[in-house]
Amino acid sequence: MPAFTHHIFICGNQRACDHPRGSCDPEGSNKLREAFKNEIKTRKLGPLVRANGAGCLEQCELGPVIAIYPQGIFYGNVQPTDVSRIVEQTVQQGVILEDLLIGEDELNNPTTPRVVERRQQIQAAKQAKQQQS
Ligand code: FES
Repeated sequence: MPAFTHHIFICGNQRACDHPRGSCDPEGSNKLREAFKNEIKTRKLGPLVRANGAGCLEQCELGPVIAIYPQGIFYGNVQPTDVSRIVEQTVQQGVILEDLLIGEDELNNPTTPRVVERRQQIQAAKQAKQQQS
């Protein structure tokens, strides 16, 4: 049997909501992983397409994050409502979804504007919470 055509890794890392980097599944719900598993099953794409839960993929501020290999595609801010179009368009048709794409210039880059903005949002939320208590 050939190797996976698409191996989708879904970050389910859980950190405290005020962690400076945030995390992809702060509630530990696994909703995103379950949505991918269901979509792959519904479309009968297994076993060559597989969705696996993963630990931190190091793009935390842009989460929830998934990575698709061997293509090396990273998507950020992925919601369960995005799963159907990711599977249909990216997995089945090879189309990159630009609105979700974490570009080469953003991967592992803590100075990219989206990362800086997200860290500021997390810090502001933490300060607001501290002022309330
Ligand atoms: S917590 Fe998901 S990429 Fe780090």
